[in-house]
Amino acid sequence: MKEIKLHPKNNTLHPSTSTLDPLASALHSTPSTLHHDQKPKLLIVEDEEEIRTQMKWALMQEYEVLVAEDRARAGEVVRNEHPLVATLDLGLPPQPTEVEEGFLALSEMLTIDPLLKVIVITAHGERQHALRAISQGAYDFFVKPMKMDELKVLLYRAFYLSHIEREYRELKQGALGESFDGMIGASPEMEKIYASIRKVSTTEVPVLIVGESGTGKELVARAIHRRSPRKDGPFVVINCGAIPETLLESELFGHEKGAFTGAHIQRRGRIEAAQGGTLFLDEIGELTLPLQVKLLRFLQEQKIERVGGREEISVDARVLAASNRDLTKAAAEGSFREDLYYRIGVVVISMPPLRDRQGDIPLLGIALLHRYTAETKRNISGFTPQALLGLESHSWPGNVRELENRIKRAVIMAEGRKITPEDLELVSPYARYGGGKLKEAREALEKDLITRVLKSKNGNLSQAAADLGISRPTLYELMQKLGIVKE
Ligand SMILES: Nc1ncnc2c1ncn2[C@@H]1O[C@H](COP(=O)(O)OP(=O)(O)OP(=O)(O)O)[C@@H](O)[C@H]1O
Ligand SMILES: [Mg+2]
Repeated sequence: MKEIKLHPKNNTLHPSTSTLDPLASALHSTPSTLHHDQKPKLLIVEDEEEIRTQMKWALMQEYEVLVAEDRARAGEVVRNEHPLVATLDLGLPPQPTEVEEGFLALSEMLTIDPLLKVIVITAHGERQHALRAISQGAYDFFVKPMKMDELKVLLYRAFYLSHIEREYRELKQGALGESFDGMIGASPEMEKIYASIRKVSTTEVPVLIVGESGTGKELVARAIHRRSPRKDGPFVVINCGAIPETLLESELFGHEKGAFTGAHIQRRGRIEAAQGGTLFLDEIGELTLPLQVKLLRFLQEQKIERVGGREEISVDARVLAASNRDLTKAAAEGSFREDLYYRIGVVVISMPPLRDRQGDIPLLGIALLHRYTAETKRNISGFTPQALLGLESHSWPGNVRELENRIKRAVIMAEGRKITPEDLELVSPYARYGGGKLKEAREALEKDLITRVLKSKNGNLSQAAADLGISRPTLYELMQKLGIVKE
């Protein structure tokens, strides 16, 4: 791999950057805009062939130098080659002694790529043009005659800035769009999930994904598959809870012709369909005990028999499963086989409920709002502060799916440019507190808080009182006054 050297070896030219060498480390952290094995692209817009050639020779060691002799060609190169930095001679044909063509070129190039760093080259004594260019979006200017060393420093800085800017934009887009295989969320809770996905996706171990409804279990399963060596194989989903018990066995294992009434032809099951890929058993807790036995056999031996068949069929499929029931509890109660649980739950990924993901609710809200306004082309610019507060204080029993549904609906129903709590069908967070009367608000708030703390302390009055910073008798009194009954 070739190293990129954007900066002159002579560090004294730019002492401020020589100690940190930020470009080198930046280049290695995001290869998406600047590749290690590729020189960054520089465009030279210059009508005089001699200067063009001279500059090209001087700079081609560090950059992939593209050239354009006029405005039209400059636009083409920016559009097709995506240079990060360009130098622009303002005097372009048809009137190389004037600057208007150069200014047109500047504006066209920046329209095509607003992040392009344009360094305008002006003749001596044309400072007013340089300033005008900067006010119109040029990054910097350079006065002829060319001193190559100085130009190199200027270019180095321009490339560095361009890189930082593009990286920032990517991060921002990542935060708003698909950050991790379609999963949005930057909370520590979700970071842990991403780390687990990264770890397990390169292995073959079965993974059990547990969590409340709508927390993204299926998204996680898909991400594991997509990042695994099996990514080009099939990803087969079967929802064990959605298929009638009588059909599930043949759905999973397939059947031979004549295996049962109605089995007119031989049929391969979903497990076989996952050959070479990943099988995702959604709601695995809904499997009946006999099917659990059959599945366990498959997990142990990688072999199945179709219903009514004698032949053993080898199937190479990685198994992922999901459940929103607590399977350890089911196992303790005897409705889920312990041996199957140990097989399937070698690794357990536990999805945090949305209400526990620090900071993710507004992030998801904004991202989903962007998605749906783009889809519906409705002109909505954001949420009112009350709506944001409402989003934050709602308990989200349906998790991300519920958030999706509420925002989808709000985007369609909203009358104004901002989404209100009413559009989201969330009670205004203020409405809960008595609509403005301080006494009522205070009582409602106290009641909320005491109820929550009591619940978290399992009704233990002394502990709750300690948490609330009041004495036990005071708590008791408040409970009487506010009509709170201990559960
Ligand atoms: N972190 C996330 N970022 C963006 N969208 C998400 C995220 N988590 C879930 N979703 C979306 O929410 C919806 C529910 O996700 P998913 O079906 O994966 O949840 P689930 O846990 O399998 O739910 P259930 O238990 O109800 O089957 C999907 O439309 C999914 O795209
Ligand atoms: Mg699901």
